[in-house]
Amino acid sequence: MTAKIIDGKKVSASILEKLTQQTKDLKKQFGRAPGLATVLVGEDPASQVYVRNKNKRCKEIGFQSFEQILPADIPETELLQLVENLNKNPDVDGILVQLPLPNHIRSELILEAILPEKDVDGFHPVNVGGLASGKNVLCPCTPSGVIQMLDYYEISIEGKNAVILGRSNIVGKPQAFLLLHRNATITICHSRTKNLEEVTSSADLLIAAIGKPNYVTANMVKEGAVVIDVGINRVDGKLTGDVDFGPVAEKASYITPVPGGVGPMTIAMLMSNTLKAFKARVNAE
Ligand code: GUN
Repeated sequence: MTAKIIDGKKVSASILEKLTQQTKDLKKQFGRAPGLATVLVGEDPASQVYVRNKNKRCKEIGFQSFEQILPADIPETELLQLVENLNKNPDVDGILVQLPLPNHIRSELILEAILPEKDVDGFHPVNVGGLASGKNVLCPCTPSGVIQMLDYYEISIEGKNAVILGRSNIVGKPQAFLLLHRNATITICHSRTKNLEEVTSSADLLIAAIGKPNYVTANMVKEGAVVIDVGINRVDGKLTGDVDFGPVAEKASYITPVPGGVGPMTIAMLMSNTLKAFKARVNAE
């Protein structure tokens, strides 16, 4: 089998187009556009690119964007104060603190300081718990984007054996809940998983989110499986996923490329979460 390509750029463009229209309508109705604040601490080049792209998208679809760029040695108390100010700012609907933060800052403390209703990353414990118990909360962007892609291509989730490689709070764990709520059977694999090849070979839907370039090889994939590659690894200056794309594409029924797969979806879902946060806030006023 040769896999069909799941085109993340196309799916994200269709979502962003809808969001642009909704933003116009909401602006007319409520007198202001949704606002997203991004907080970047330090000068990590990858984080700089991610944050720049998020702000660019904001402006393109008509959101207000509030950019905060802070020095790497900012004291934790100052960063907390900044988050507090954004919490209080009525024009800010969503707050995103780009990770990783410098070592002297406790990320957990910062993420928990963000008001849950402005937590467009879905990392606050209130939203993590809400997701686990099936409430309609703000959910992490990357795993939500994966679900949107599957839906766009009408790939059914119900009853499927979904195997997730990686147990991070950003992707693996929330992905498991989102798929579980859609009635898939879930296995999460990690560095201590035994007989990994046997487990991944049972997957109808295989999601790789481990951050190891080309880790998922064709022998780990069932014929006809749907393979989603969440990895973004830089190898010799080139972006490479967690999946050994060429050989795996020969076996899979659908596959996402890197770049151009899951990546563009993450930003689209961030915008979607910001609009959702805006609507919840204006309706609560
Ligand atoms: N760093 C890598 N991925 C993410 C993400 O989804 N959100 C934030 N805030 N930081 C990240």
